Amino acid sequence: MIRTYALAAVLLMAGAAAQAGDLKTLKKINFDMPDDSAITFPAGPGEEAISGNCLACHSADHVMNQPPMDREHWHEVVEKMIKAYKAPITEEDAATIVDYLVRVKGKKE
Ligand code: HEC
Repeated sequence: MIRTYALAAVLLMAGAAAQAGDLKTLKKINFDMPDDSAITFPAGPGEEAISGNCLACHSADHVMNQPPMDREHWHEVVEKMIKAYKAPITEEDAATIVDYLVRVKGKKE
């Protein structure tokens, strides 16, 4: 199971690196997967975008178990997935995903 996730991450990164034309940045990243089990996000607008982009490396629970956060913080999380962990997510999908997260896990003012 853990191996499958790691392989998926490496393949994703390989794809992203190949697109960028810079194979030297290809690195193997090891991380421990949390022991959580829910694999789907609650239905609603944007659910397809988040399910399509955010389940390659960890479960939906890993996202849904975070405390509610405001838009700025969700934006930072999604940016971190893209920049630090090389998640291949388009800007359009990233915006849809932030909207989705603010709706289902936004901090109530
Ligand atoms: C390329 C792999 C990858 C993808 C795709 C990915 N993540 Fe992550 N994510 C990680 C890693 C690695 C961690 C850190 C490991 C941990 O926290 O257990 C993480 C951690 C998190 C966390 C925990 C809090 C934090 O800041 O570390 C949240 C929330 C999260 N991801 C949300 C998302 C969302 C939303 C998406 C889709 C936009 C996404 N992830 C897509 C790799 C990924």
